[in-house]
Amino acid sequence: MKTIGVVGAGQMGNGIAQVVAQAGYDVILSDISQESADKGKTNIDKILSRAVSKEKITEANKKATLDKIGTAGSVEAQKDADFIIEAATENVDLKFKIFQQMDEVAKDGVVLATNTSSISITKIAAQTRRPEKIIGMHFMNPVPVMKLVEGIRGLQTSAETFGKMKKLIEKIGKTLVEAEDFPGFAVNRILMPMINEAVYTLFEGVAGVEDIDTAMKLGTNQPMGPLTLADFIGLDTCLAIMDVLYDGLGDSKYRPCPLLKKYVDAGLYGRKVGIGFYDYRGDTPVVYKAD
Ligand code: CAA
Repeated sequence: MKTIGVVGAGQMGNGIAQVVAQAGYDVILSDISQESADKGKTNIDKILSRAVSKEKITEANKKATLDKIGTAGSVEAQKDADFIIEAATENVDLKFKIFQQMDEVAKDGVVLATNTSSISITKIAAQTRRPEKIIGMHFMNPVPVMKLVEGIRGLQTSAETFGKMKKLIEKIGKTLVEAEDFPGFAVNRILMPMINEAVYTLFEGVAGVEDIDTAMKLGTNQPMGPLTLADFIGLDTCLAIMDVLYDGLGDSKYRPCPLLKKYVDAGLYGRKVGIGFYDYRGDTPVVYKAD
């Protein structure tokens, strides 16, 4: 494998494109417009420039990585890729559509992986004529920092496909954990109910935003508190995953907290929009309160 395709130039797609290029692969980073794909590459440039200023990498390393990343304004550009990773927004209909398109344009035999955090790999595979080549490859945010990739086999995923993914994960220096294709896989089956419970803890007035985060940071050694982490992941994404757990597992213990729904209804998705449980518009985050 020489060329890796990445579909979606948002936060996750950019991180994936960066680590894959740093491992020496050529990358085709595509999005729905050339402008979006180029914006993704500009963000990778910023992350790498920060690493240069911290003397973690050299200017030459940065240039070599950026030179390996080509950008494109449509999925069609993935026709030359040897392995494609989809990292679009977590929306079932969108992912189904992208997989139909990728199946059309990708060379025969090319593995189509999805970075979905919760959608069934088996269902995504059923949208294509190559279900044996479809696999879940769930990266964690921020991709360049987090060591884990969750590997998820759909019902028809072949051993050969799994082997190709495993090799790629090794090449990029990440650690693979295998999970079965059930709602939330392993990471989000555990993480999201914790975040949802933190929101219930706030909702029921047990503790305030900062106290909940401090309790979990200092009390359980987590690098960020659960409400900060929810803002970091995106409250819309957290709610979407809770909905998948609730619908898919049919157990009331996964009921999304009404307060989480309210923040999402208001468009307060967290860091990416500047407001969530915290307000990020100033120099340092403060707990968000309406005026
Ligand atoms: N991209 C690239 N590098 C980044 C980064 C980003 N977005 N954010 C931080 N970093 C790097 C920094 O450059 C720094 O690197 P060096 O040590 O080489 O200098 C390092 O990460 C540490 O950063 P900071 O010192 O600025 O801040 P920190 O110590 O607070 O660490 C953090 C930041 C790594 C994000 C840390 O707070 C953390 O691990 N948080 C938890 C993250 C987490 O749980 N992620 C999983 C979310 S769940 C998920 O992604 C799956 C899903 O489906 C929802």
